[in-house]
Amino acid sequence: MTHLKNILYSLYCGASFLFIYFYIFNIFFGRKDFKKYSPHKKNFENQIDKLKSQKILIGMEMQVINYNIPYITKVLSDENFLDKEIMDCLIIGCYEGHSTLFFVMTCVHAKFICVDTWNKRNYHKRYNRDAETYFVKNLENFNQRVFKVKSDSQSFLNNNLKKYDLIYIDGSHDASIVEQDCKKSFDFLNINGVLIVNSLFWRGFHKIKTNNLSGVVNFMKKLKNFKIIYVTRNILILKKI
Ligand SMILES: C[S@@+](CC[C@H](N)C(=O)[O-])C[C@H]1O[C@@H](n2cnc3c(N)ncnc32)[C@H](O)[C@@H]1O
Repeated sequence: MTHLKNILYSLYCGASFLFIYFYIFNIFFGRKDFKKYSPHKKNFENQIDKLKSQKILIGMEMQVINYNIPYITKVLSDENFLDKEIMDCLIIGCYEGHSTLFFVMTCVHAKFICVDTWNKRNYHKRYNRDAETYFVKNLENFNQRVFKVKSDSQSFLNNNLKKYDLIYIDGSHDASIVEQDCKKSFDFLNINGVLIVNSLFWRGFHKIKTNNLSGVVNFMKKLKNFKIIYVTRNILILKKI
């Protein structure tokens, strides 16, 4: 049922045939990749639990990247990103640092610019208003490779001068911001760089076309030099060619 809803939602937002084809392809053929790389997910979850029990990490009840880990790990492995010596990454939307930890612990030499507004007033009451403090604590052992930038994504991207090998977008879920985040991020990707957009089918806003997917679809309409790697029920992974 979830898949049918997502396909109809994609059609409603004007997604391309290719996008929907990749979504359906993944329903049937993605399981193999998911199963093969599932031990990485388990391993990461165990490491996080252990570090939490030792009070080295705090918070992180919201672990939205977990389901995506097998797919992302396969891509990072295929692109030889796991132990690439010189690798620049950008993460937009870091919250308490859970997905940042995944990337930092998986791509062991990569450097990360981590952008978030960490605006206490904007967090829904289910969220941790102290997410910024938690982020700092959770990433303190990686401060040689993790650089925190407190900013909204648009201001950051408007002033950015760097190119990246990997960009993970999990910031604003507002369609117009997502479209701009994707567009500008893609411009700053190196050739063969990878763009990952999380919460693809999130539908928290009442007006359906103001959610993530609409922004992603609009971004992809104007896009040329790309290859779709995955469309799953959570993420889009693209490669710049
Ligand atoms: C879903 S949470 C990110 C979760 C995170 N990736 C993780 O794994 O824990 C979304 C985050 O995006 C941030 N955010 C929202 N709008 C933003 C914007 N325009 N620019 C930068 N960050 C933004 C919020 O402050 C919040 O911390």
